[in-house]
Amino acid sequence: MNIPFNVPPSVAFQNGHFTAENVVKKVTRSGDLVGIFHDHAAWQAIPAQTPFYEVEMLDSPQGEGELYVGATHLHPGRVGDEFYMTRGHFHHRREQGEVYMGLRGQGLLLLQNERGEARLENVSPGSVHIIPGFTAHRLINTGTDILSALAVWPTMAGHDYAALAQGFALRVVLQEGKIQAKEVQNG
Ligand code: 6PG
Ligand code: NI
Repeated sequence: MNIPFNVPPSVAFQNGHFTAENVVKKVTRSGDLVGIFHDHAAWQAIPAQTPFYEVEMLDSPQGEGELYVGATHLHPGRVGDEFYMTRGHFHHRREQGEVYMGLRGQGLLLLQNERGEARLENVSPGSVHIIPGFTAHRLINTGTDILSALAVWPTMAGHDYAALAQGFALRVVLQEGKIQAKEVQNG
C-alpha cells in the first residue's frame, strides 16, 4: 500500500507569509485604533484607511485543545513619538497562553499581568516568546522594516480588548533619538 506524504501548510521564514489554501486575512487600520496612541492629534492626522497591521491565519477547526497558527505583520512608523503597535489584548479565556516567534524586523513584545505589571521582550528573527496565561500582549515595531511574528494559540482563547480600557503600563517612544519605554500614570 502506498502511504501518501501529505504536504502541510508552510510559512516563509523571510516574511511570515503562508502557503496554504485556507488562509484568512484581517487588516487593522489607523481608524480602528481609537484611543490606543497617547498623542491623539498625531493619530487624527493619519488617514483612517492607513493599514497598521495584517494578521494572516490558517482557518483551523475550532474546539477545546485545537490550535490556531497565524502571523502578524506590523508596519513600521510612529504616531507622534510612539511606535506603531497592535491593539493588544488579554485572552477571553484568561488561562490560555500563546507562543510568538519573531520572523522579520525588530520590535518588542509588551506583556502585562492582571496586577498591571508590565515587561518587555526583544523580538527579532528567531526569538521565541512564551506568553503565559493571564497575560496581556502587544507587539511594538521599533524598526524600519515590517515586524512579522508567528503565533500559535488555542482556538478557544478568544480576545478581551475591553479589559485593557485603562491601557498598558508602558509606552514605547522615540525620544532624543533613543527607543525608550516610559511608565504611564493610571495604566
Ligand atoms: C491572538 C494573537 C494574535 C493577535 C494579533 C493582533 O491571540 O489572536 O495574539 O493573532 O491577535 O497580533 O493583535 P490584536 O488582536 O491585539 O489586535
Ligand atoms: Ni493573543
